[in-house]
Amino acid sequence: MLRLGVNIDHVATVRNARGGDNPDPVRAAIVAQAAGADGITAHLREDRRHISDDDILRLTEALTIPLNLEMAATDEMLAIALKARPHAACIVPEKREERTTEGGIDCIGQHNRLKPIVAQLVNAGIRVSMFIEPDRKQIDAAHTLGAPVVELHTGAYANASGDAREKILRHIHNGAEFGADLGLEIHAGHGLTFDNVQPVAAIPHIRELNIGHFLIGEAVFIGLEASIREMRRLMDEARA
Ligand code: PXP
Repeated sequence: MLRLGVNIDHVATVRNARGGDNPDPVRAAIVAQAAGADGITAHLREDRRHISDDDILRLTEALTIPLNLEMAATDEMLAIALKARPHAACIVPEKREERTTEGGIDCIGQHNRLKPIVAQLVNAGIRVSMFIEPDRKQIDAAHTLGAPVVELHTGAYANASGDAREKILRHIHNGAEFGADLGLEIHAGHGLTFDNVQPVAAIPHIRELNIGHFLIGEAVFIGLEASIREMRRLMDEARA
């Protein structure tokens, strides 16, 4: 079965716009759990622009489904992950000035910096994934780092159209197949919507999709539960 990880960062974005307690991303996570999410994803950014340290603590206490902590490969985030012990940690590149995670992490160029961080997380029993471009060399390098999972960045696919989109989709499909043959568990995410999720969901090697911004935005119109249920339905339909 293809799992759906719901990213609740942007519930915190709306909360932080006013600086109070509402809307609470932990409440959103509990709704997502009830609506059929298989996991919750939250990105604790260096600048804490959405999710806070306290949110991570409360999520670890409140959830019965797995928490996937997205984190930059820094000493600060490593210490937080080792303390919070989420089920999974997804290593992402992070630039302070970016609006969202713009590309995959460079597992080749950053190998020496990433290796000890991946090792400490793996040794702590945390399932590590590397958020990378769907590129064979990067997939190979993530495997060499000892991460059991890769999450393939679908942002370029989501932003493209027509033939360009088809070409990127084939690239994601080939990457997913290549990674699965290496023994990696394959995830994918970024920029997925009701309109573009199905071709990605149909790639048989992919085990999990992580989706956030669109689901939270759609919740304004149809509610969070309905938004998640519809995404689940589309994913299942694509897979059937
Ligand atoms: N996966 C990773 C690693 C991400 O960094 C993000 C964005 O935080 C997502 C998935 C979800 O992307 P979106 O919010 O565009 O659905």
